[in-house]
Amino acid sequence: MTIVPRVTARVPAKLNLQLAVGPRRADGYHGLVTVFHAVSLFDEVTAECAAQDGVTVTGEGADRVPADQDNLALRAVTALRAAVGGAARAPAVHISITKRIPVAAGLAGGSADAAGALVACNELWHSGLDQQQLGAVAAKVGSDVTFALIGGTAVGRGRGERLTPALAPATAYHWVLAFADGHLSTPEVYAMLDRQRAAGAKAGAKGSHPEPTLDAPLMTALRSGDPTRVGRALSNDLQPAAVAMFPALRKTLAAGLELGALGALVSGSGPTCAFLASNADRALGLAVSLSGAGVCRSVARVTGPVPGTLILPDPKTAK
Ligand code: C5P
Repeated sequence: MTIVPRVTARVPAKLNLQLAVGPRRADGYHGLVTVFHAVSLFDEVTAECAAQDGVTVTGEGADRVPADQDNLALRAVTALRAAVGGAARAPAVHISITKRIPVAAGLAGGSADAAGALVACNELWHSGLDQQQLGAVAAKVGSDVTFALIGGTAVGRGRGERLTPALAPATAYHWVLAFADGHLSTPEVYAMLDRQRAAGAKAGAKGSHPEPTLDAPLMTALRSGDPTRVGRALSNDLQPAAVAMFPALRKTLAAGLELGALGALVSGSGPTCAFLASNADRALGLAVSLSGAGVCRSVARVTGPVPGTLILPDPKTAK
């Protein structure tokens, strides 16, 4: 019997505790300053040797994920193969993704899957790329892929791919995620923000989109480890655009705050909303109340920060 080598990686979803968006750049992207925060909602990505590259996706929202070369995980495979010297060193793989991170939800699930594929293939092919080299490949695949590799809490600049880990005490933050009954496309939310800003400028609003800067009160709050201060300092420039495209979110955010959340915001480009609670018990109460309030499709309790992409022991070989 031949043993088919396989490697499984576990990858976290992310929230943005701050998402400051600058003007649209010439390349179509927006300059960002963001504070990424990895949370305990994970996809699993398995890479195994195969006759040709392919991908299968199961789990939460799997029918919305492309199963061809547009799949971000397969794009990551192609990018890593090019970086390590081609097919002789990086033979064909099949990627299997088990999704728990909802698709097109503002939680960077696609980027997580790409990061998982990079780490799993780096191991499967014995390519030996270090974290920094993998990060350079990740940045070519998508803006959030580099962060999914490192996890934790980190400041992102550029498109979000230039990262500095945030120095903070080992506080565990308790979050409730409210998943929406619908999806938002990231490029469409950015385009809406551009339109809102253009309309604001026409109407004479000054300084509506300056170059983004890191929010000092948020960083001080993170260093203090005090969830009340962190809750007050959460911010997302994309939120008005996401709410304009998905007006039901206004009600979801208001309900969470009314039910005692320390802070609330749309996650990334949405439509998932994230609520911070002061401890695990409060998070449980908030989750129960929010799901009873009928303001979202479902809820999940998660904690952060959690590590980035990790290789899991293979259940077939682990003792
Ligand atoms: O890099 P990624 O594929 O995740 O980005 C998806 C889309 O989101 C981009 O094509 C772009 O329209 C928008 N985006 C942006 N500025 C960023 C990140 C993403 O405009 N910094």
